[in-house]
Amino acid sequence: VSYILDLLYFGNTMDLPRPEMFDFHGVHMTHYFTDNWEKVQNFKARPNDIVVATYPKSGTTWVSYILDLLHFRQTDAERENTVPLDERVPFLEFFMPSLYTPGTEMADMLSTLLASSKLTFLFSLCPSPSGSRAAGYSNILRHSNKIFSFSAEIVYVARNAKDNVVSYFHFDCTEKIQPEPGDWKSFLQRFKDGKMVFGSWYDHVCGWWEKKQMYSNIHYMFFEDLVEDTGREIRGLCSFLGLSPSEDEREKIRGAVQFDVMKANPLTNLEDDTTLDFSISQFMRKGKVGDWKNHFTVAQNEQFDEHYKQMMKNATLQFRTEI
Ligand code: A3P
Repeated sequence: VSYILDLLYFGNTMDLPRPEMFDFHGVHMTHYFTDNWEKVQNFKARPNDIVVATYPKSGTTWVSYILDLLHFRQTDAERENTVPLDERVPFLEFFMPSLYTPGTEMADMLSTLLASSKLTFLFSLCPSPSGSRAAGYSNILRHSNKIFSFSAEIVYVARNAKDNVVSYFHFDCTEKIQPEPGDWKSFLQRFKDGKMVFGSWYDHVCGWWEKKQMYSNIHYMFFEDLVEDTGREIRGLCSFLGLSPSEDEREKIRGAVQFDVMKANPLTNLEDDTTLDFSISQFMRKGKVGDWKNHFTVAQNEQFDEHYKQMMKNATLQFRTEI
């Protein structure tokens, strides 16, 4: 672990061994997300904290940035230009090397960071905490319920399965602390089987959808809606969070969160992240709806549709069919 930390903090991260996945209370995980688990479970969200919950690669960074700007753009201009996004919106389950000071316990670093902030944004990938989709998630369930019971506001972002898996594939090729991705064909199969870090896409998006029907503190968003009309989605977020920025301010935020602007910004393109191999792909890769058409063969698409129909047959959640 010391060696890994040393590499993460100082050095040649490209030599890091890829982690293995294992079954963690019914969900596939790697140790990067479970080492800190006890502290994660004991974490108490406060009223008015905001949790961004997502399945990996569904627009977390985008929504996190919008939230950060909505809350801080006017009062703390420095923050926007100096603090990397993954420090403004800490990732609850993950220990971030950039926050690590040698000699300090990693979980304490996170607690200090959270305690020093009036308002906490958290990025969490926690799988759905209840419902038929959550069987076997007992440990994770406890953690998630804690977030609910402290009445934090939860913003969930979902992305259509086909673009989600394509984005996840490119990310795993680029991110050296994700498991070995293998080739596209086997990755796609693994996605269908739910053997991904943070488990099944189907369980995640449907589980949170079920939960949204029961709790008013969940705002469920779609990546595709953000692409279609970012301004409208920002207005929706404001109304959910009870924020009332001026039209001019909202427009400035809308401009700042356009794909090209975020890609050109090293703090939102996560260029300080030493575990990403930018020679393979940028973090802000394409940001499109429908990129799956450049990856799925006709046969893969037919098989996927068939599988999708089966998996979603009892779900009330619907994604746009024209994708
Ligand atoms: P692609 O790989 O399809 O480009 P996450 O933040 O959950 O890891 O999701 C990353 C995905 O969201 C990437 O998708 C990234 O390009 C896309 N994304 C991030 N910001 C975006 C923006 N402003 N506009 C469009 N897509 C964005």
